[in-house]
Amino acid sequence: MRVVIEAEAELYRLAALRVAAAIRAKPACVLGLATGRTMLPLYDELARLHRAEGLSFAAVTAFNLDEYVGVGPEEPGSFRHFVRERLQRRTDLRPEAVHVPDAGANDPAAAARAYEAELRAAGGVDLQLLGLGVNAHIGFNEPGSSLASRTRVKTLSDETLAANREGLPAVVRERRLAITMGLGTILDARTCLCIATGPAKAGAVAATVEGPLTASAPASILQLHPDAILYIDDPAAAALLRRRYYLDAESRERLLEDGDVR
Ligand code: GLP
Repeated sequence: MRVVIEAEAELYRLAALRVAAAIRAKPACVLGLATGRTMLPLYDELARLHRAEGLSFAAVTAFNLDEYVGVGPEEPGSFRHFVRERLQRRTDLRPEAVHVPDAGANDPAAAARAYEAELRAAGGVDLQLLGLGVNAHIGFNEPGSSLASRTRVKTLSDETLAANREGLPAVVRERRLAITMGLGTILDARTCLCIATGPAKAGAVAATVEGPLTASAPASILQLHPDAILYIDDPAAAALLRRRYYLDAESRERLLEDGDVR
């Protein structure tokens, strides 16, 4: 796993450049989108690149990682709403190209299976964006999730409900369910780009990068991924034992890279 430790503004600039490079290399790429506070500055920067530098999402297809069960697509607490407001409306990403699990469906388990099939039919994810839960979840794959899981319904943990309490629709507090891409689904993405910032994520980051591969820290599955990159700020890097090594390795590896991402 490539670990990039930078000040917050710089890490978002670099992460957005990497997303932009993937889109420019393959305009009709499949982007895996994430939601949450961590993604806000990234989507701000992508919207800026669209406005200021003509980065076009017109041929992109997007698949959101997850969605709360029982929440309609127009509701402000839904992830579809988040993606629409934060990215789609601010770029030329076509509304019909944005896929989100149909978590309002009568049969969420069937909707989850249909979503997995839709993703497969689209050729799979080229670049998957990921945030990190405080309990090291990715998507809504809570600790204990099968490392081979596909898109399915998961029960949200107390920690996740607490972390996401702001603006959480009442139905989610009651039903505690979401449809999420599975860990196996995420692992199939050609590239995974994970971002974590702030001291609350330091334990999850350490478990992801330096802990054992375990369902107890679902993001540790990224250790199996051949092309995973993690962007973190100093507070999120605080519990890493090999912090200095990552800084050194990154400065050397950047010298090898082409001029697009500095
Ligand atoms: C949420 C989402 C994840 C997100 C994570 C972190 O529950 N399902 O996809 O990455 O938790 O959220 P935040 O960025 O707000 O810390």
